[in-house]
Amino acid sequence: MAVISVINGPNLNMLGTREPGIYGAQTLADIETSLRKLAKQHGHDILFYQSNAEHDLVNQVQQSQQNDVACILLNPAAFTHTSVALRDALLAVALPFIELHLSNVHAREAFRQHSYFSDIAQGVICGFGPKSYELALLAAISLIEQPSRD
Ligand code: DQA
Repeated sequence: MAVISVINGPNLNMLGTREPGIYGAQTLADIETSLRKLAKQHGHDILFYQSNAEHDLVNQVQQSQQNDVACILLNPAAFTHTSVALRDALLAVALPFIELHLSNVHAREAFRQHSYFSDIAQGVICGFGPKSYELALLAAISLIEQPSRD
């Protein structure tokens, strides 16, 4: 059994009503429920966290070692494009993480096409709506269960 930490940045608490044409109709609670179910089916456990505050997200990343986290799924939301502090926190804990986005950030405004995380992530999943979370979880599970890419 491994612990997978799912960390969500600002405004993701508004999923369901927030620009549903871009982000879909599911709430963050719906996503959490389906991830918990999927993780349980594979014998793993989920820590699920959302904050609108950069320092709380940094603190949550820093807590990963105490929480015995094996892998982080991170949707940094708008902090994707701005946060050196969150990037540094991920480098500091040195745990594998997967960057994920509901929308295809590469098909949107130019400012969304730069990420402070992609070059240090194990991989990036974006553009599948709420399914991005499930795909990222499956990727994390395969990473945990079979760490070598060969
Ligand atoms: C997002 C994409 C970001 O550009 C945006 O600021 C978000 C959500 C996504 O999941 O598609 O808040 O991370």
